[in-house]
Amino acid sequence: MRECVIIDGVRSPHSRAHHEKGWFRMLRPDEVLTKVYEGLFARNPKVKPEDIESVFVGCANITGMQNDIGRLSWLAGGFPESVPTNTLTMQCPSGMAATQHAARAIMCGEGDTYIASGIEDMQKIFMAMHMDFPPRLLERYNIAEIPMGNTAEKVAEVYKVSRKDMENMAYWSNKKAAEATKAGKFKKEIIPIEALKDDGSSFVADYDQWIREDISMESMATMKTPFKPDGVVTAATSSPLTIGAAALLLMERSKADKLGLSYSIKYEAGALGGCDPTLMGIGPIPAVQRLLARTGKKVSDIGVWELNEAFASQSLACLRELGIAQNAPFDNVNIWGGALAIGHPLGQSGCRILVTLHSIMKTDRTDAKYGVASLCGAFGNAGATMLSRV
Ligand SMILES: CC(C)(COP(=O)(O)OP(=O)(O)OC[C@H]1O[C@@H](n2cnc3c(N)ncnc32)[C@H](O)[C@@H]1OP(=O)(O)O)[C@@H](O)C(=O)NCCC(=O)NCCS
Repeated sequence: MRECVIIDGVRSPHSRAHHEKGWFRMLRPDEVLTKVYEGLFARNPKVKPEDIESVFVGCANITGMQNDIGRLSWLAGGFPESVPTNTLTMQCPSGMAATQHAARAIMCGEGDTYIASGIEDMQKIFMAMHMDFPPRLLERYNIAEIPMGNTAEKVAEVYKVSRKDMENMAYWSNKKAAEATKAGKFKKEIIPIEALKDDGSSFVADYDQWIREDISMESMATMKTPFKPDGVVTAATSSPLTIGAAALLLMERSKADKLGLSYSIKYEAGALGGCDPTLMGIGPIPAVQRLLARTGKKVSDIGVWELNEAFASQSLACLRELGIAQNAPFDNVNIWGGALAIGHPLGQSGCRILVTLHSIMKTDRTDAKYGVASLCGAFGNAGATMLSRV
């Protein structure tokens, strides 16, 4: 089997998905994605857009401005018509599925150079926009248990995750993300983008808008539970609504050597997992179990994890059931913070957590031979991907 190495991984800053306060409120999602591609090529001058075999783009809600956003943003960005694009959806794991498609194509010899990417704008294309459920699905499942927040409440109940443990996770996620931002860790992966402040003046954003430096256990303890009157999940323990794009430049190893490109991390393996949609947050459990079984690895072989924090309840349930960790702060999970702090632009996040895992393995955790990124998705799809040091 050929090897797929990661040449680079980049992303946009994350903006709040808010029509008055969001930094990217006046930018279309295709523009955000295009700016990320432009940044990727500017950082990698030996790779020309026309050298790309194909561009895979994950997006959860492929409607309106996000309808075939892969093709439309590529053409709108002035990139070559000869390069095909494939916009695909798998809800939140879309950007990870895009990465797995590109890596598999390289490993089986269909092509040498691919972009795998993800995009979501949760302001202009809100969650479940234009979604029309099949009547037979509604006979099979209770519709009240399908919305994301309701699944987070159910996971907390079934897996006995307490509100306090979730708030502790949100606390550490924000603290770690704030520390990483302050130390300039994300600057290596963020493509700065011109954005709007609250007052309408423009500035160049090179960090994430959501992170709360001033987070406190006391203030979180008094917050309302929006999904269930007597529930345990709050806005602090839910990933906030976000806009963001991410992209990975993947290449067959000998081609990268011929071009004189440097790399230290490669795509090792990928797996997808499925589960009950009313408990969709536990999807990383079967996905990671499959990934470990197929690669012959144990949890203890994995030096560093990126587990998307869609909700604290599901992240904690997954970490506990997989035997990775019990409670935050974690030694080797989301060491630069997670989606509770950074945000979770649905279909983008599967690619974003791989971009960040790549950055972490290259810089802070050079002792980790293997790293795994995993995330759940609406309706019970999940993804898990292993990277390894070459
Ligand atoms: C939970 C949710 C409904 C909250 O939406 P919202 O009400 O627009 O959220 P906000 O971010 O404005 O937060 C609400 C309030 O909580 C406060 N808050 C949020 N996090 C906080 C924290 N960690 N500490 C203190 N206050 C916090 C906000 O400041 C805000 O207060 P304000 O109204 O006084 O300004 C929304 O973020 C959501 O649906 N998240 C989940 C998204 C999802 O399902 N993704 C897919 C996962 S698979």
